[in-house]
Amino acid sequence: MHKRLGLNIDHVATLREARKENFPDPIAAALIAENAGVDGIVCHLREDRRHINDRDVEILKQVVKTHLNLEMANTSEMVGIACKILPNMATIVPEKRQEVTTEGGLDVVGNFESLKENVSKLKDSGIVVSLFIDADEKQIRASKEVGATVIELHTGTFGNSKTKIEQQKEIEKLVKGSNLGHEIGLQVSLGHGIDYNNVYEILKVPHIEEYNIGFSIIAKSVFVGLENAVKEMSDLINGKNNG
Ligand code: PXP
Repeated sequence: MHKRLGLNIDHVATLREARKENFPDPIAAALIAENAGVDGIVCHLREDRRHINDRDVEILKQVVKTHLNLEMANTSEMVGIACKILPNMATIVPEKRQEVTTEGGLDVVGNFESLKENVSKLKDSGIVVSLFIDADEKQIRASKEVGATVIELHTGTFGNSKTKIEQQKEIEKLVKGSNLGHEIGLQVSLGHGIDYNNVYEILKVPHIEEYNIGFSIIAKSVFVGLENAVKEMSDLINGKNNG
């Protein structure tokens, strides 16, 4: 089965915002990536709009032909925007103002009622809802209870592992989490901190249909071009080694 690659294009917008220019344009990145065979485009509209902005999401909705996954915080502002723009999927992520990037999974247990309400509003608008969580049994079960269709397991700790032992421990947690998610009827995807070196290890996690990857691909594209960077990662997750 083909494993899907969702490209997170936030970092193209980060580069644009570094100079407050109108380039590089994340819309252009989405189109190039789609031509290169990416299976979906992911972007995170943050409350502070520090990279992706409202205009980007509106245009992405019009031009993305594959699959648009909007990452967003669990707030009524974001639910309103999602229900207006209607991406294919909304991934609810935790958001802290000072963080450099998303630092961990969503606390579904601690935000049970508001998530239940927001997941249901998004689903009523026909949006598939994914929750970005740690591979933790309580969070996985709570995700099912609030009505999510998909869980994206946070692989950031795996990505930051400094030793093989640490990495293996994280893989074991992810395997357990993925097995549980699959068993209770959730679709399971993975995301955060996956790169061209550690992707081999992450492929050991079963039941994964989709990988959401941003930074490593955009960083590599500086040297080899976005098309090549996307193709290489897509081949890697599908076990086609370029040699
Ligand atoms: N998935 C989610 C939910 C994220 O928040 C991010 C980063 O914004 C990613 C995947 C991609 O992570 P990275 O840029 O480290 O590949």
